[in-house]
Parts: sequence; C-alpha cells; structure tokens
Amino acid sequence: MSELFSLSGRVAVVTGACGKLGPIWVESLADAGARVAALDLPGARPSPVYEAVAARLGDRVMRIDCDVTSRASIEQAAATVAGTLGVASVLVNNAGIDQPPDSPGGRHQIATLPVDDFRRMVEVNLIGTFQVTQVFGDQMSGHGGGSIINIGSLYASVSPDAHFYDHLAGNAPFIKAPAYGASKAGVVNMSKFFATHWASAGIRVNTLSPGGVLAGQDEQFKSKYTARVPMRRMAEPADLRGPIVFLASDASRYVTGQELRVEGGFTAW
Ligand SMILES: NC(=O)c1ccc[n+]([C@@H]2O[C@H](COP(=O)([O-])OP(=O)(O)OC[C@H]3O[C@@H](n4cnc5c(N)ncnc54)[C@H](O)[C@@H]3O)[C@@H](O)[C@H]2O)c1
Repeated sequence: MSELFSLSGRVAVVTGACGKLGPIWVESLADAGARVAALDLPGARPSPVYEAVAARLGDRVMRIDCDVTSRASIEQAAATVAGTLGVASVLVNNAGIDQPPDSPGGRHQIATLPVDDFRRMVEVNLIGTFQVTQVFGDQMSGHGGGSIINIGSLYASVSPDAHFYDHLAGNAPFIKAPAYGASKAGVVNMSKFFATHWASAGIRVNTLSPGGVLAGQDEQFKSKYTARVPMRRMAEPADLRGPIVFLASDASRYVTGQELRVEGGFTAW
C-alpha cells in the first residue's frame, strides 16, 4: 500500500509555494518521496511556514522564480526544473489571489467594484492556471504523463455567506470578491477540459477544493463559519496532506476530471 502512495523518484512542481497552503503541498509531496520545485513570484516573501518546511527538507526542495501571469516566466521556470530536477510528473497549480477583509484599499459597494480587480483575479487564478498547465502539461505529455492538481475552493461551488463578515468594522460592508468564486469555478471546469484532452497522454487532471483553513481568523468569523460546517471545524493543514498525496500518486490512477472537496462537508447540505 505504501508503494501506491509513493512519489519516490518523481519531480513535483508547486506554484505560489511560499504562502499559507503552498508549504503544505510542498512538504506532503516531499514526504511522499518527490523532489519539489517551489515556484513563486520573484521577490515573494516566504511565509514562516515555508521557511520552516524549506529548512527541514533541505535539497529536496528547490525555490524557483515564476510569475504565473507571464508565459515567458513560466517557460523559463519549466526549463530550469527540467534541466536541474528533471521533467515534472506532478504539478500543483496553487498560485492564487483573494481579497481578504484585511486587504489594503477601501471597500466598495457591489455596483462600483473596480472591474480591474475582477480582471486581475481571473488573470492569476484562472488564466495563470491555464498557462502553467499548457507549459508543464506539454512537457509531461512527451514524458509519459503525470498528475496535475488544480487548487480550487469551496467557493467554486457555493457563494460566500455575507453573514460571516457582518461583524467587521469598515467604511462599507465587506464583500468577498465575486471574481474569486467565479475564477475557481472556471478552474474546476478547465480541469475537466484538460483531463479529457490529455487522458490518452497519461495525464490526469483533478481539482482539490479546500474549505477555509485555520490561519488566525477572528473568533466571530470562526464561530459563524464552523456553524455551517457539518464537521463543526475549519480545515487544519494536516487535513490536506492525504488528499494531495492521493491525487498526486498512483493511488488515484483511475481518477481524472474530478473535484475533491476537502471542506468538512460544507457543500453537502
Ligand atoms: N487559505 C485558504 O483557506 C484557502 C481555501 C481554499 C482555497 N485556497 C486556495 O489555495 C491557494 C493558496 O492560497 P493561500 O491561502 O496559500 O494564499 P497565500 O496568499 O498565502 O499564498 C499565495 C501565494 O501565491 C503567490 N502568487 C500570487 N500571485 C502569483 C503569481 N502571479 N505568480 C506566482 N505566484 C503568485 C503569492 O506570492 C503567495 O506566495 C490559492 O489558490 C487559494 O485560492 C486557499
């Protein structure tokens, strides 16, 4: 059984690796045996969790610059990965942006939400995933295939509940960006496109959609959010380790085009 979940001898790529969830994917894949390329924006400030994971993994992780909105940057990163670690057979499209309540900048009413904010979210979350998949998937298709895992969100399936945020102070009510769920829903559907397109090349493509992950959210948010979760808690980093290794490894060898929701049952009722 441990062989089924092993990534020994494989090269994995994680985009947006230096934030909150990136290190969870990096560490889980490395612990399953992969050598991991950790891609993030040039100059991205690594989170303390990423720093700790990188220190523990040593030369099993390699940090490489990559802006997922730039085709040239992605091609350069893919060439670096192939030239140093070898062609990747696991890709985790994790890079993404959101606008949490503590984002800089004022709040807006829905009618005046800047369309450029909407565009930028689609640019990173959806088009970024598309371009990275084009480049790394093309390499994979010529090298025996692999597994692509796109990170979605529970908001790919359901709309955010504004009540979660109505206790927050501010110059206007906080509105969770509509582009966030729209871009993630696009990712779920696009995963199905690539799953069918590349099935014959031995590439599986799935979406892993986490629910809210514990990361210092305020108590009122947590209590309103967890009241909506059948399992009555937010996700912990450890909840994500099994699902990512399952999708990356041969344990899921006949699973493609699927969305694996890791959200404690949030979307089940
Ligand atoms: N944290 C959660 O609770 C949660 C829940 C569901 C889904 N997600 C998804 O998980 C993924 C990671 O989220 P997170 O919480 O770690 O966010 P985060 O903001 O902590 O990290 C995102 C990382 O992506 C990088 N990034 C941003 N723009 C980029 C670009 N153009 N090119 C390359 N890298 C870029 C950032 O530098 C950062 O390191 C996102 O796709 C997010 O939508 C997160």
